[in-house]
Amino acid sequence: MHIAMIGSGYVGLVSGACFADFGHVVTCVDKDAGKIAALLRGEMPIFEPGLAEIVANNVRQERLFFTTDLGPAVRNADAVFIAVGTPSRRGDGHADLTYVFEAAKEIAAALDGFTVVVTKSTVPVGTGDDVERILRETSPDSDFAVVSNPEFLREGAAIGDFKRPDRIVIGIEDERAREVMSEVYRPLYLNQPPILFTSRRTAELTKYAANAFLATKITFINEIADLCERTGANVQDVARGIGLDNRIGSKFLHAGPGYGGSCFPKDTLALIKTGQDMGAPIRIVETVAAVNTQRKRAMAGKVLEACGGSVAGKTIALLGLAFKPNTDDMRDAPSIDIVAALEEAGARITAYDPESMAQARPLMEKVTFCRDPYECVEGADALVIVTEWDAFRALDMKRVKAALAAPVVVDLRNIYRPEEMRRLGFTYASVGRS
Ligand SMILES: NC(=O)c1ccc[n+]([C@@H]2O[C@H](COP(=O)([O-])OP(=O)(O)OC[C@H]3O[C@@H](n4cnc5c(N)ncnc54)[C@H](O)[C@@H]3O)[C@@H](O)[C@H]2O)c1
Repeated sequence: MHIAMIGSGYVGLVSGACFADFGHVVTCVDKDAGKIAALLRGEMPIFEPGLAEIVANNVRQERLFFTTDLGPAVRNADAVFIAVGTPSRRGDGHADLTYVFEAAKEIAAALDGFTVVVTKSTVPVGTGDDVERILRETSPDSDFAVVSNPEFLREGAAIGDFKRPDRIVIGIEDERAREVMSEVYRPLYLNQPPILFTSRRTAELTKYAANAFLATKITFINEIADLCERTGANVQDVARGIGLDNRIGSKFLHAGPGYGGSCFPKDTLALIKTGQDMGAPIRIVETVAAVNTQRKRAMAGKVLEACGGSVAGKTIALLGLAFKPNTDDMRDAPSIDIVAALEEAGARITAYDPESMAQARPLMEKVTFCRDPYECVEGADALVIVTEWDAFRALDMKRVKAALAAPVVVDLRNIYRPEEMRRLGFTYASVGRS
């Protein structure tokens, strides 16, 4: 199969590289000439474990190409994937479809022979109909089918998720597309992931329903954590106690500072907007989004409390800035809200993250960025663990204590044991554990 991937960001680049690894010939297209130039030099524009090797191998074997020139890539393709961004539209939270529609127009102008145009970007239910209309209006004589194939990969584990997915969802309205999509995913049949062929609208909505459900699960355990703090219960034990029930499942039951990232915040807002527009409001998700937004800033209150009620004039050391470990993605990371709230309260912030500091710098201009965790805590009045990178799980706590001006640790990811930290002489606060 010849595949064109329009948009070479997290999803486009990972999907493109993995499809090439399966043996397809893939051209990744991006408007961002800097990104393409970096990829042509062999540099990855994002941090994703394992990606650089797969890209290098497939470039060497001439199955993976990069270009800014969409036309030839689309003309030669059996399937064209749209993997451009769908950020929140300012004001109403609806998904901004500008990039998708622009890509559709550019694709339309280059179609040649029967082509399957696949929306991999997360788009509101009904967007496939709009894409189809744009293609038809721009290129009335072309032969194409529009498919929805939402992506479920997780940043930080993207290659594994793409190659061994829990399921593949493919929404089609034209039977000819089934054959092409089956061929595209045929190399995966060995692992036998369930492939769900659905209607296009069903596939589009499935993606939002999945993300909203996961966001709800996180928010649920976060609120249970708050109740644990008031009652002396332990949220990790509660999570285990409910998670072992197969109907509930143990994943996404880690209490913390609230969800962030490139997907959950914007996708919950977009689903809320669709629900409201369609007269079927999804109130549970409305509440989840509101609770989560409030929670991120509320985490600064935890730090204030641990510091005796005020951080004015104090230095607070933050470990971890990315919205989760193993990514450099800073989009909607809780650290952004926490830094803003602490600075408003008069604190000076030092920070360290293994991968995301270049992305973080423009978002938190007053922060002092450090070379490693120990430099970060030197002379600080409190240490706050915001992201649970492996590198922070086994810090030399005696060294940390000696470096801190005051032995205060606020662990927003519950990676240390309260008794142990207290035994070491720390004032230790975590989430949902007394
Ligand atoms: N990041 C994730 O973990 C993830 C997971 C599942 C689904 N998604 C969805 O996938 C989509 C892409 O997300 P992302 O994180 O990869 O975004 P991204 O911002 O990392 O990448 C999008 C890329 O598209 C390029 N682009 C925009 N318009 C273009 C055009 N007309 N032609 C060529 N290139 C163009 C941009 O320059 C950018 O490099 C979104 O809808 C997102 O919701 C993301």
